[in-house]
Amino acid sequence: MILDLFRKEVGFENIQGYDDIKDIVKRALDAEDNYNLLFIGASAKTLFLLGIIEYKKGVYFDGSNTTNRILDVLEEHRPKIICIDELDKMPRQFQDKLLNFMESGHIKVDQMRKHYDFKIKGAKVFAACNEITRLSRALQSRFRRLHLPSYTEQQFLEVSIKVLSNLKIASVIGKAVWDQGGDIRDVISIGKLVERMMVPKISRRYSGQ
Ligand SMILES: Nc1ncnc2c1ncn2[C@@H]1O[C@H](COP(=O)(O)OP(=O)(O)OP(=O)(O)O)[C@@H](O)[C@H]1O
Ligand SMILES: [Mg+2]
Repeated sequence: MILDLFRKEVGFENIQGYDDIKDIVKRALDAEDNYNLLFIGASAKTLFLLGIIEYKKGVYFDGSNTTNRILDVLEEHRPKIICIDELDKMPRQFQDKLLNFMESGHIKVDQMRKHYDFKIKGAKVFAACNEITRLSRALQSRFRRLHLPSYTEQQFLEVSIKVLSNLKIASVIGKAVWDQGGDIRDVISIGKLVERMMVPKISRRYSGQ
């Protein structure tokens, strides 16, 4: 309890909102026990996974680009924190290996060219996916699910201000994109365009032209 009072409030600074989820993730990371979390929902899933490996040493993989390099990295580094983005896009054979690993800590893969047979004890797996039905039921059941709800208009504006922190008109851009039914990526790309348009103006101002 006392420890709780003095918890370091660091990590995930570049993620606006979702304070309750940040808290759950930090607790899972700091816990002795094995927690496996699966991020699902609208936005910020990748941001959370990247935040996790910033908070604690670990590895990040993109499941839509799965190769045996994953096995090489796991074998070489034996990480205790493993983040897998786009888990639903990972081929079934890798998903089955992951399930086996989450049950036993054991990775055993026999291939024509290489043979993997090693253990990592007490690893925590954090993953993100869009289509949970693409995961086997057994694999789904290994995770505690964290649903990132869609933004309300107010939250969308707050995220817009966060991602365009150097633009005074961030909330105006956010509001316009919200009204058009766009997403945060649209806010970011419009912000970049605006910045590009502003740079020549500023440099003209200071070059005396
Ligand atoms: N709460 C937030 N705080 C800060 N930036 C955010 C937030 N939500 C979204 N973004 C920004 O929006 C973009 C998309 O976020 P992210 O890539 O994490 O989404 P995702 O859930 O992984 O999406 P996808 O399902 O397409 O993989 C990123 O550039 C990110 O910086
Ligand atoms: Mg993503």
